[in-house]
Amino acid sequence: MKNYAAADEIMYHIGLSKEMLKGAKYALLPGDPGRVEGLAKALGEAEFLASHREYTSYLAEVAGHSVLVVSTGMGGPSVAIGMEELARIGIENFIRVGTTGSIQEELNLGDVLISKAAVRLEGASRAYAPVEYPAVADLDITFALREAAIELDVPHMLGISASTDTFWPQQERYDSFTGYVLKDLQGKLKEYQALGVTNYEMEAATVFVVAEVFGLRAGAICGVIAKRTSSEAVAPKEVYRLSEKRFQAVVKKALEILLSSK
Ligand code: URA
Repeated sequence: MKNYAAADEIMYHIGLSKEMLKGAKYALLPGDPGRVEGLAKALGEAEFLASHREYTSYLAEVAGHSVLVVSTGMGGPSVAIGMEELARIGIENFIRVGTTGSIQEELNLGDVLISKAAVRLEGASRAYAPVEYPAVADLDITFALREAAIELDVPHMLGISASTDTFWPQQERYDSFTGYVLKDLQGKLKEYQALGVTNYEMEAATVFVVAEVFGLRAGAICGVIAKRTSSEAVAPKEVYRLSEKRFQAVVKKALEILLSSK
């Protein structure tokens, strides 16, 4: 994938141009615009860049390098739109930083899950590659995330995520508004558990496929905020805050590893 934007050309959806990135090659992709500032400032010095639709961005400095933090909203379509534009202005490495629901007993609330691959239950990635094409994370980014988690003594697992377009039906939550889950979707959670899938989330598969078909690199790390072996519900905010502290520290250290290996 060629990046062809002029230095000062502002991308339509994300409101960013190449020159605003000051040479940044890495982008961290949280979903929630409200989490961008905290993540950027946890990395180091950070400045606000733009806020358009779901895309709020800050530029942070890590080990002397500019790193972009930009929210993508929820789900495959908006993350794919963001990635297309980011690739055009020179981003080559994407790290999805989000939240997830564990479906395995050993993956606990507050832990960190590093995705090595994802099951493509979402629709957006099918516009980029047929469904037989694997959604796999970049090995260097994945190993850097794991090395950082080990060094920082953060409870973590490497796993296969199942990426869905919907929070309720495809993740088999029966407390949805309809109280009903289509027959075709019933029993899937058990099936994925049996196959060793670790968690549900909504972006990793799109991020991996889009990066791979563009010839770019991607990884994903999520804080566990729901444990589906015991409840359909999302845990209280303190659990998110615990996992947030952990994944922020892991991402910072992983970036230091990746940026110093060039
Ligand atoms: N995000 C998801 O997609 N599912 C969960 O259970 C928690 C966060």
